[in-house]
Order: sequence, then C-alpha cells, then structure tokens
Amino acid sequence: MPITLKVNGATRSVDVPPDMPLLWVLRDELDLKGTKFGCGANRCGACTVHVNGVAQRTCTLPVSRAAGAEITTIEGLNPAGAHAVQQAWEELDVPQCGYCQAGQMMAAASLLAKTPKPTDADIDTALNTNLCRCATYIRIRAAVHRAAEIKAGGAAMGASGAAKSTKRNEED
Ligand code: FES
Ligand code: FES
Repeated sequence: MPITLKVNGATRSVDVPPDMPLLWVLRDELDLKGTKFGCGANRCGACTVHVNGVAQRTCTLPVSRAAGAEITTIEGLNPAGAHAVQQAWEELDVPQCGYCQAGQMMAAASLLAKTPKPTDADIDTALNTNLCRCATYIRIRAAVHRAAEIKAGGAAMGASGAAKSTKRNEED
C-alpha cells in the first residue's frame, strides 16, 4: 500500500516496503540525491534531513515512521540558497570533497532553529557525530557561528576574498 510523505513542501506517494529506510526512498524513489549514504548504521550523519524541523538520520529510519511528517532535505532547505547556513557555508568555503556537507548543514540548521546563538560546546554536542573525512571541522564550527550572526541580522558577505582568506588562514 502506498505511503504518503510530505517532502520539501510537496505531498509524495511512494509504493515501497514500510521498513525501507527513508534515505533510499528519498534518493531512489524521489530522486533527491543530496542526502548521502555514509555508514548505514546511524553513525556518520551523512544521511541527515529534518523531520518536523529536527535533524534526523535516515539510513535506519523506516519510511513508515516518517509518514505524514514534514520532511526537509538539503534540496528544500532553501532552494534559493538564502538560508543562513547556506550563506555561511558559501562565505567560509566550508566543503572540501563535499560528501558529508549536506548532513552537516542540516544538523547545523536544526541546531540554530532551537539554539540561535550556540556556543562551541553546543556546536560540538550537536555535530560531533557528523563525521567529515576531509576534517573540515574548524570551518564547520566557524560557519555555524557565522550562520548564527547572519540569522541575527548580520549581512552575508558572499563567497568573497575575505571569507576565502579565513579558510586560507586556518589551513596555513
Ligand atoms: S549513512 Fe546514516 S548515519 Fe551514516
Ligand atoms: S568535506 Fe569531504 S567528507 Fe566532509
């Protein structure tokens, strides 16, 4: 029997087994490939989306448990790229290979929704099990702080030289 989902504001019906992980429904049934498979065991965060506004890993979440919930993937965070997290990530040029970054950004957006001005400790608690094989952790933390500033009214700079120099300084 088809399962009805609300994904990025649209109602979608999928005819899949109820125990199919939501990750595979998003990627293979709905062609939303931004959410990534990393470990398949709830340990890396690559598959993080929002379920009713809260970060949730989807590689072990049966699709039936998401029926009727509001699901937001990286594609739906802000299609225009205007979310504070998207702006901060671009400004600080956070990704390296990029594979983990959708999950990092969704976790960051969820954190900022409930903690508008997070401390380093808040960020570490919220994101420390979102793994990055390229070790972009310093830029991720800086970008979460920057996203908090943008959300609070600080103008985004865009991916300009000032931001890039921050990255270079960290790497020097
Ligand atoms: S793929 Fe889901 S937590 Fe790693
Ligand atoms: S940017 Fe490569 S895994 Fe995080």
